[in-house]
Amino acid sequence: MKAVCLISGTGTNLQAIINNIEIGYLNIDLVSVISDKPNAEGLKRAKKAGIKTIGIDFTSYADRFEYDAFLEKKVASIDPELIILSGYMKILPTSFCKRFSGRILNIHPSLLPKYKGLNTHQRVLDNKDDIHGASVHFVNAELDGGPIIIQYHFKINENDNTDSIKKKTQKGEYLIYSKAIKWLYEKRLSFELGKAFFDGSELKNPKIFFED
Ligand code: GRF
Repeated sequence: MKAVCLISGTGTNLQAIINNIEIGYLNIDLVSVISDKPNAEGLKRAKKAGIKTIGIDFTSYADRFEYDAFLEKKVASIDPELIILSGYMKILPTSFCKRFSGRILNIHPSLLPKYKGLNTHQRVLDNKDDIHGASVHFVNAELDGGPIIIQYHFKINENDNTDSIKKKTQKGEYLIYSKAIKWLYEKRLSFELGKAFFDGSELKNPKIFFED
C-alpha cells in the first residue's frame, strides 16, 4: 500500500510507524513524509529512515488557499492509497477530504468524540475525567469528526498531570495507529459512504485497547 505521511512537528508517531515498517509488522510503502514546516523534527526522522521528505514553507504562500491548493496537488501527484496524518496541525480543506475520502487516517489525543481540537490533556484534567486516551479515525471535512476506528483507554490517577497523561496517551498512540493501518491494508477495515466497516460489518463503536 503506497502511503504518505503529513506532519508538522516532532513526529514520534511517524517514528513508531517507521519502526513497525522496519521490523516487518507494517507492510506499507511509505513513499514521502510531507510537512508544512520545513524544519519539523519529523522530517529528520524520515530522512534517517531513507524516506523522501517534502518540506513546504507555509509562509511563502500568498494565503491559505494557495498553500492548500499546492498541498492537494502534491499529494494527488503521488496518488497514495493511504494518507497518514501524524501531528499535522492544519485543518485540511473540504476539497482535500472529499478527494481522498476513505484514504485519510488521523490520530487524536483524546477519546473522541470528547475533546476535539487542541489542549486535550488539560481539558481532561480540568473536567476531572477518570479515563483518557487516544483515537484513530477516518478523516472527513469535520474537525476530528470522521468514524472512529480504534481507541486506547487508560485510567487517570490522582497524581497525574498533563505531562504524565501525555506520555500515557502517546504510548497508546504508537500502538493503535499501526493496528489501524494494518487493518486497512489487510482489508479488514474499509470506508464506504461516510461509514467505517470492520470484518464486513459497520463499525458502530471503535475497537478499544486498555492500558496493560
Ligand atoms: C499526537 O499527540 C497526535 O495525537 C496529535 O498530534 C501529536 C503528534 O505528535 N494529532 P508527534 O508529532 O507524533 O510526536
